[in-house]
Amino acid sequence: MERREAKRRIVLVPIPAQGHVTPMLQLGKALYSKGFSITVVEGHFNQVSSSSQHFPGFQFVTLKESLPESEFQRLGGIEFMIKLNKTSEASFKDCIAQLLLQQGSDIACIIYDEFMYFCGAAAKAFNLPSIIFTTTSATNYVSRCVRSKLNADKFLVDMEDPEMQEQVVENLYPLRYKDLPTSGLGPLDRLFEFCREVANKRTASAAIINTVSCLESSSLSWLEQNIGIPMYPIGPLHMTTFPPSSLLDEDRSCIEWLKKQKPRSVIYISLGSIFDMGTKEVSEMAWGLCDGNQPFLWVIRDGSESLPEEVSTMVSERGGYIVKWAPQIEVLGHPAVGGFWSHCGWNSTLESIAEGVPMICMPFHGEQMLNAMYIESVWRIGFQVEGSKVDRGEVERAVKRLMMDDEGAGMQERALDLKEKLKASVKSGGTSYNALDELVKYLKTM
Ligand code: UDX
Repeated sequence: MERREAKRRIVLVPIPAQGHVTPMLQLGKALYSKGFSITVVEGHFNQVSSSSQHFPGFQFVTLKESLPESEFQRLGGIEFMIKLNKTSEASFKDCIAQLLLQQGSDIACIIYDEFMYFCGAAAKAFNLPSIIFTTTSATNYVSRCVRSKLNADKFLVDMEDPEMQEQVVENLYPLRYKDLPTSGLGPLDRLFEFCREVANKRTASAAIINTVSCLESSSLSWLEQNIGIPMYPIGPLHMTTFPPSSLLDEDRSCIEWLKKQKPRSVIYISLGSIFDMGTKEVSEMAWGLCDGNQPFLWVIRDGSESLPEEVSTMVSERGGYIVKWAPQIEVLGHPAVGGFWSHCGWNSTLESIAEGVPMICMPFHGEQMLNAMYIESVWRIGFQVEGSKVDRGEVERAVKRLMMDDEGAGMQERALDLKEKLKASVKSGGTSYNALDELVKYLKTM
């Protein structure tokens, strides 16, 4: 009787946040379609196993020791990540030991979000290969490497010096020192400490990045020369795999609403899955959007109930539509959408470029600033809103600049051009397609 060869297993360890879980699962789907078994190891919240019906064939395992979501709210991003890594290390080792005991479980590799560096200890202990997965941009990876070599106090002093701020980081044009992201998720010294841990605890023999070489060629070359491990830029993953369903319920009524709008007339506003604006800012935004005189689709995660009643009425009277969570990729691909007002999270950035939609950038912190800088100055497919506060006049001007001015038309043209380049990169023979092929070959040697 013919013996069926057991599939080799890949263990995936995402950060429990929508913006990181989504690309990790897309990677899982891509590898599953290439013949690997997939096990996803999860913490105690934002679990994908609750929608496991969308991932037939995947195995889901929950770590015994991890942190609850309340700790994220209590500690803030950086402290949460440092503590999560300490708390999960022993538990993850137990989990791998259990998986290895399971009949037929042959682990080819552990692929972990680079910030879940606790995985390195288990990989070492069981002599298993590991690969890191970077869900943000290659340029952000570069800046983390540069930053992990710097001293926080010296960095702050240097940043007071206007000349130093403008200086281009060696071999990394157009990245200037002032562009190196400093996170809003915790104090700078703790961020530097975290970056050092991420770099020091790394056991990985390769890195997968959810990017595409036509967008970030200089950063990718820098990484290849400086990190000393192979890099696999296989993104944008949402273009290569059928997008997995969101962790949150999508309100599809907005698609019906979009169908009634004119081509390229709608501005879509979404600020990702983590950050929210305060009530005053939301009101200013609402006024500015209404005065911009373009129909708009707006994701407010607390819903329109959180708006003052008169603002909510004005929005619906003047061409606005609010949802708590939208099917974003479908929205961006809809012919009625002509612009995206975004916080410039990396997934949103890739999704917008993939649909040729120009952007208004309102980054909140860290790498979102870097993405916004690239959108404005490198790819020239959008611009940043002026000022640090949301102001109705600025909002109105920004909408008109993108949706009505010649300058906006130029951005649109360049965005459409990039869209074609991205499409070509994921097709047979394209750079991301080839990188995925190479990655699969590499995994098969493990
Ligand atoms: C976080 C960080 O904030 C971001 O800077 C980093 O690059 C990734 O991790 P998040 O804030 O959620 O991510 O932003 P982003 O990366 O843009 O991811 C948001 C995801 O949610 C996108 O895939 C988007 O399609 C999805 N989304 C958003 C929806 O499906 N519906 C919505 O209504 C809004």
